[in-house]
Amino acid sequence: MRNPAPVYHAWRESDPFFWYEELDTWVLTRHQDCAAVLKGLDRFTSDWRRLGEGTPDELIMLQTVDPPDHPPVRRLLAAAYRSRDHAALAARTAGRVRRLLADLPAEVDFVREVAVPLTVETICDVLGVDPPDLDWLAGVSPPVIDTMDAGLRPEVIPAGLAARAELDALMERWMSDHRPGGMFAVVSEKLRGMGLDRRLVMNSLRSTFHAGFESSARLLALSLLAIIDNPGALRFFAKTPDTAVDEVIRYTSQVQVLARGCLVDTELGGRTVRAGQGVTLIIGAANRDPAVFPDPDALLPDRSPNPHLGFGRGLHACLGASLAAMQTRALFAELAVHHPEVRPCGEPVMWESGTLRGVRSLPVTLS
Ligand code: HEM
Repeated sequence: MRNPAPVYHAWRESDPFFWYEELDTWVLTRHQDCAAVLKGLDRFTSDWRRLGEGTPDELIMLQTVDPPDHPPVRRLLAAAYRSRDHAALAARTAGRVRRLLADLPAEVDFVREVAVPLTVETICDVLGVDPPDLDWLAGVSPPVIDTMDAGLRPEVIPAGLAARAELDALMERWMSDHRPGGMFAVVSEKLRGMGLDRRLVMNSLRSTFHAGFESSARLLALSLLAIIDNPGALRFFAKTPDTAVDEVIRYTSQVQVLARGCLVDTELGGRTVRAGQGVTLIIGAANRDPAVFPDPDALLPDRSPNPHLGFGRGLHACLGASLAAMQTRALFAELAVHHPEVRPCGEPVMWESGTLRGVRSLPVTLS
């Protein structure tokens, strides 16, 4: 969990495209193969129903549907996301960062006191809703993440579905209880008369909210851990913030794994992938592929070009990539200027997840 790169390098070197019987899937670790699958819409699907697999209604959302269901919902959510004034949002986020850091004692759990409140408040700002209770959220979010590993641990599914039901109730409340100008205001207004599958839209809002804070908070905490291990990296967030953000996303790769199903027999990476088979893309490995990233295990905050796959590619590429990047710039620019000596004051504890890496607690001294 702390550093999966050595395992990924070993896989890529011994067999970069191997069949994993236990999960009935190909496992891909090369950047070129992972990118080809993500862009190969006519051959690979995110919708497992097309391969005859049952998917619970709760899991039918933007990430798990193909055209023709996907584009209209994506357009709706993208229009709602863009309708926010993003310059004003960035200014509010910078203010939020300053307030959060100013109010802290010298020693803190960076995850609990900074990463989670910052990302929850920011995504709620985008959605135009009041942030929910953080202790409640800390209970419902982990079971949702656990289900991303359901292939390895099927027993986690019931708790994951129950947690989604709790989040769904919150989404329903937000449909009628929101502020003007946020995503909920736009979606609830436009949804009427569009003829879209309401369940698909509501599940997609839930996953936007959930990814909005959980993936982003994990990015912030993993990035700080990487920066602590690489003194000198922090100042690049004041100097060249865009390349620095791209590099921490590549280096930390919160989303370690994406999965697709194969629709038609396909020659790829020297193998024949048969229709009906699964392909597991190890994004964390692709982002450390030496064929694409020279010195892949070094954190180089001015690395350019940086064609990482941290936000995916193609049809399902991350809707909130710019939001995650904006928060990362805001937080680390502030740390670079006002807390350049940030350092650990205890052992970090990692989340146990094969799909979404993260730090559960990260005790640090800020000044
Ligand atoms: C560090 C933060 C984040 C990372 C690493 C991340 C990563 C990803 C990745 C890899 C995908 C592609 C999934 C696939 O191809 O199957 C994705 C999709 C998505 N992300 Fe993010 N994400 C982050 C933050 C966010 C935020 C802040 C939001 C909300 C504003 C968000 C909303 C979404 C949505 C709705 C999709 C589905 C897009 C579609 O299927 O069309 N993500 N994300």
